[in-house]
Amino acid sequence: MSRPFSPSARLREPANGLAYSSLVERVADEGARAWDVHVRGRELEAEGHDVIFLGVGDPDFDTPAEITRTAIDALHNGRTHYPGAAGIPELRAAIARYRTERTGQPVEADRVIVCPGAQNGLYVTLACLVEAGDEVIVLDPAYATYRATVRSSGAEPVGVPLRAENGFHLDPADLAAAVTARTRAVLINFPHNPTGAMVEADELSALAEICQRHDLWLVSDEVYAEVTYDGRSQRSPALVPGLEDRTVVIDSLSKSRAMTGWRTGWIIAPGGMAAHIENVMQCMLYGCAMFIQDAAVTAVSREFQETSAMRAEFSVRRDTVAARIGAIPRLACLPPEGGMFLMIDIRETGLDSLTFANRLVEEEKVVLLAGASFGASAEGFLRLSLTSPRAQLERACERLARFTARL
Ligand SMILES: Cc1ncc(COP(=O)(O)O)c(C=O)c1O
Repeated sequence: MSRPFSPSARLREPANGLAYSSLVERVADEGARAWDVHVRGRELEAEGHDVIFLGVGDPDFDTPAEITRTAIDALHNGRTHYPGAAGIPELRAAIARYRTERTGQPVEADRVIVCPGAQNGLYVTLACLVEAGDEVIVLDPAYATYRATVRSSGAEPVGVPLRAENGFHLDPADLAAAVTARTRAVLINFPHNPTGAMVEADELSALAEICQRHDLWLVSDEVYAEVTYDGRSQRSPALVPGLEDRTVVIDSLSKSRAMTGWRTGWIIAPGGMAAHIENVMQCMLYGCAMFIQDAAVTAVSREFQETSAMRAEFSVRRDTVAARIGAIPRLACLPPEGGMFLMIDIRETGLDSLTFANRLVEEEKVVLLAGASFGASAEGFLRLSLTSPRAQLERACERLARFTARL
């Protein structure tokens, strides 16, 4: 696996005495530094150490072969030209059908914009909705890029705590308390990264009521919608009365089809907004590679047995790790309801999450991410990614037990 971007190692004053824009400061936050421990793991590995990496959320499964074959055929068939900014019509239509079949949400193809992954979808969406002087409510903790993505738009992120004692579920009272006269949008993600929490029907109704009362956009990042456990499924907020016309849905093939490196996702915009997103895409990107879009048509055109196999395997890994961690004195864990991560409760060890993560990689060569990197409400927790084989996860748990016993 290649090394993820490490901003803290690369931040430099301009060598030529000229100035950068304020953007470079706004995006260099604690979330960007979340990966420093991973980078340190790579250094230790290069020195010859046996490092176990459980930081990155990249499924350790191959993309289903039929999808790959479609891309190869498309390359051979000359699908190598400019694709248009919004996505090829076949893919926009296929995504609209997929969305309707999977969630019941009626979607017309002209509301779908193809983008290179959910991350880009979030960036472009926020650029269209908010600007300097605005506030965007984000969950705390949240996926490590969220705050910087909001700040890129010029707006300020305002955290609403997901409390550990509440299973990291959204408490509508906390959400209501975070709204100010400057709030323009709420950015949510369920199943949630990093905590694995889902959102219940009553929480969604309360969310709808708050968005309506304060005239807010809702941005719903649903990249883990197909990674749920125990037969549960996550209802999309876009289906909730009062939210249909104000919700922008962001999704991708990264997790559901093990396609992180293909960089393919989409935005489903409420009426009228897609044209603005297309204009931003035009100047930002000029479209996603056509042969990859062809493969994406295959990816959304039917269910893949590989997706259910992956979900089943994550479920077994979740139970295996939960049992192992549960047996380690002073550690506890919160098995996820969905998503690919498991939160380890380290509060009884007396170490803060960053110190624990940094010492763990140095002393036991295991990479976990500090909860604090995702937001203050996840302090006292570490995030473990379930995207490694069971034997590897069990070895990591043994090392964790040894480390904790020494504290
Ligand atoms: C919540 C969340 N949103 C978005 C992304 C980015 O996904 P993509 O690969 O589609 O850009 C991730 C990746 O881990 C994520 O966890």
